Amino acid sequence: MLFLARPIKLGVLISGRGSNLEAVLNAIEAKTLDASVEVVLSNKPDAAGLAHATRRQIPAFGINPKTFESPTLYEEHLVTLLKNHQVDLVVLAGYMKLIQQPLLTAFHNNIINIHPSLLPSFKGLHAQKQAFDYGVKITGCTTHIVTEGMDEGPILMQTAVPVLDTDTLESLSQRILEQEHLLLPKTIQHLKEKFI
Ligand code: GRF
Repeated sequence: MLFLARPIKLGVLISGRGSNLEAVLNAIEAKTLDASVEVVLSNKPDAAGLAHATRRQIPAFGINPKTFESPTLYEEHLVTLLKNHQVDLVVLAGYMKLIQQPLLTAFHNNIINIHPSLLPSFKGLHAQKQAFDYGVKITGCTTHIVTEGMDEGPILMQTAVPVLDTDTLESLSQRILEQEHLLLPKTIQHLKEKFI
């Protein structure tokens, strides 16, 4: 059986605080995840999460899509950076932008996303609030392979989080986030063991 005998090389895309990126980096440092983060890219040049990379001397780029003539040229630039860093797997960790053809083609089936609900329920923005407002008794988080549709694509792993009678949106969101921080490294490690 073929298997990847070295750490899997990750390119992580973020847009904000980057707590999921930090969870991945922590899991690598704790040796529970056999991976390396080769490059971090953000569509928001001022994303706080970029600091998790720069602090560790990991190449990090904040790239404003508006400085490109088209969304396609922007994504082609991302592909070039990811390929230059010999990335195996692209991880969307709070990347708040729809993925388009250049990335989907260049990393076919090798882009994953984490979403704060039990998909296919509550796709899109503010998934925790959608679930809370709907009144579900169980929600959670999902990792999945990225395809053209937003928050679609084959599900990899899920963790259920019960909604407590005492929950506020904030307390529920915090418990989901804690589970995301476990689920994302676990999913990557699982994929790494299957990667050829
Ligand atoms: C997470 O809840 C993730 O599921 C969603 O965006 C949020 C990003 O948080 N896609 P962070 O930037 O990783 O802290």
